[in-house]
Amino acid sequence: MSNIPSLILAIESSCDETSAAVFEGDKMLTNFIATQKVHEQYGGVVPELASRAHIQKIVPVVSEALKQAGKEAKDLTAVAFTQAPGLIGSLLVGACFAKGMAQSLAIPLIAVNHLQGHVLAHWIEDPKPEFPFLCLTVSGGHTQIVRVNDYLDMEIVGTTIDDAAGEAFDKIAKMLGLPYPGGPLVDKYAREGNAQAFSFPIPQIEGYNFSFSGIKTAVLYFLQKMKKQDATFIENNIKDICASVQYTIIKALMQKVEKAAGDLKITQVGIGGGVSANSGLRDTLTEYGEKNGWKTFLPAFQFCTDNAAMIGMTAYYKMKKGLYAPLYAIPSAKASW
Ligand code: KG4
Ligand code: ZN
Repeated sequence: MSNIPSLILAIESSCDETSAAVFEGDKMLTNFIATQKVHEQYGGVVPELASRAHIQKIVPVVSEALKQAGKEAKDLTAVAFTQAPGLIGSLLVGACFAKGMAQSLAIPLIAVNHLQGHVLAHWIEDPKPEFPFLCLTVSGGHTQIVRVNDYLDMEIVGTTIDDAAGEAFDKIAKMLGLPYPGGPLVDKYAREGNAQAFSFPIPQIEGYNFSFSGIKTAVLYFLQKMKKQDATFIENNIKDICASVQYTIIKALMQKVEKAAGDLKITQVGIGGGVSANSGLRDTLTEYGEKNGWKTFLPAFQFCTDNAAMIGMTAYYKMKKGLYAPLYAIPSAKASW
């Protein structure tokens, strides 16, 4: 299907990023992201503070996105927003703002599933995957292996039975005394550490599902034991600890992706979501791709962590199918896929 003339404003506000993007047809004109710093001191996202920060930022973020795109609100043909999943107060801010704009401009509204957005982020820039595509979506709240049959035809073939991979990174980082979000810091230290220095068990869960709570507990007990012997253990070994933890999480993820891709006979394989920014995971996907004969896809960094561009990309495909939302559409903390 050819590109349909349209100008979509997309809003993402599911967690701690307030973001707006503008799409002309299937081409991204701009993707503006304001990350909330207020949560750093609390070691995690505080939902009420996130909602308040979205309220403060939404008008300047949308104005800036339109300005960067060289467009005005009156030029828009649709407004899209993240409907689910996410923090309900945060989602409400984006949803209410999008509805207000759609109503005042008399243009349609498009409701987007955040997790479909992480997958369709692969279609923002070249090279784009072909179908069927297998996407490992790894974020702060979700860990999924998704079989993508078409833009809006996706099936979850594996998921975590407890913590998400990003959550494991963040919680272990917290044990190491690192601020939130800890994932990028673990990545940074891991680059200079020895991944074989310490060994943690790799969970063995049936099928294509994951579990990360065991790794977290194993690291907690290991650190408690080592700190009893040497109070400076963490500071003296932070690089090796991070490298070993990261190796274990990546191994747990990639062994399932390899199994799913082999069983489902899919050779187009990618990663998405915040943890797909991890340098170790990116390198490992490339290595597995070479070993298994896959064509692999890594999103650009700005499309890994939460962003409105992925919401705009998904909205474009929904618009093409006439999948608009009514003004009474409500956001939801959990997504029905
Ligand atoms: O997709 P995302 O921005 O938000 C959710 O939808 O949850 O993902 C955020 C998660 C956090 O857990 C963060 O620590 C993790 O992505 N993350 C990373 C890296 N960059 C972000 N984890 C490991 N290595 C990174 N480089
Ligand atoms: Zn996300």
